[in-house]
Amino acid sequence: MEKLQMLYEGKAKKVYKTKNEDQYIVEYKDDATAFNGEKKGTIINKGIVNNQMAALIFAILKEQGVDNHYIETLSDREMLVKAVKILPVEVIVRNVAAGSMAKRLGMEEGKVLKAPVLEFCYKNDELGDPLINEDHVMALELATEEEIKRIKELTFKINEVLKKFFIEKDLKLIDFKLEFGLYKGQVILADEISPDTCRLWDVHTNEKLDKDRFRRDLGKVEESYQEVLNRLKNSK
Ligand code: C5P
Repeated sequence: MEKLQMLYEGKAKKVYKTKNEDQYIVEYKDDATAFNGEKKGTIINKGIVNNQMAALIFAILKEQGVDNHYIETLSDREMLVKAVKILPVEVIVRNVAAGSMAKRLGMEEGKVLKAPVLEFCYKNDELGDPLINEDHVMALELATEEEIKRIKELTFKINEVLKKFFIEKDLKLIDFKLEFGLYKGQVILADEISPDTCRLWDVHTNEKLDKDRFRRDLGKVEESYQEVLNRLKNSK
C-alpha cells in the first residue's frame, strides 16, 4: 500500500491517505514532546517501538472484542489503519494517582485508587487540552450522548484487558490516554497505545518505564521503551 497525500502531522505521528479511501497509513516518529509542546526532544527508535507495541496491543484488544483502527503492520514505522474521523476528546483512565491528577488534587503519586477514574480532555493544543466533563463534551458537540456512553463502555473494558495483560508482564498500568474515532458510523478505538500514552511501572520496584523518563529527565529513556516492548513480546 502506497502513501499518498499527508493528511495530518501530529507530535508523534504522521497520517497519510491511501488509494483506498477507507484506509490510512500511520507513520510513527521519534519526536517527543511534553507539557503541551514546551519540552521537545527525540527518543531514538521510539517510532519503531511504538509501532510494534501499538500493533501488539490492538491485536489483543481485537481478540477481546474491542474493535479498533489497526489493520496490519506495513514496515518498521508504519501501520495500515481504518480511516476513522477522530473525535476531539482525549479519554484518560487512572488506576493509580500520578501526573496531573496527583498534582491537581494534592495526592501522593502511587496511591492506588479505590475505583478507576475516567477523565475527558478537550483535544485542543491552543487551549492546552483542558480537563472537561461529559456535559462539556456534549455542549461543545465533541461527541453525542450515545457516543459518550459507548466510549465509556469500551474504555472500562480496555482498562480491564490491559491491566491483566500488563501485570502478566510485571508491569503496573498506572494510567493511560485513549482516542476514539468514527468509522462507518461506529465508535472505534484509534490513535496508539504505547509508553508515550501510558504510565507503566515495574511491579516489583515501581521503576517508571514510560514517557515520564523523558518528561522528568530520569535518563534511560530509550532503554525503558525497549524494555517494555521486550517484556510484551516475551511470554513468561
Ligand atoms: O499528564 P497526565 O497525568 O494527565 O497524563 C495521564 C495519562 O495520559 C498519562 O499516561 C499520559 O502519558 C497520557 N497522556 C497522553 N497524551 C496527552 C496527555 C496525557 O498520552 N496529551
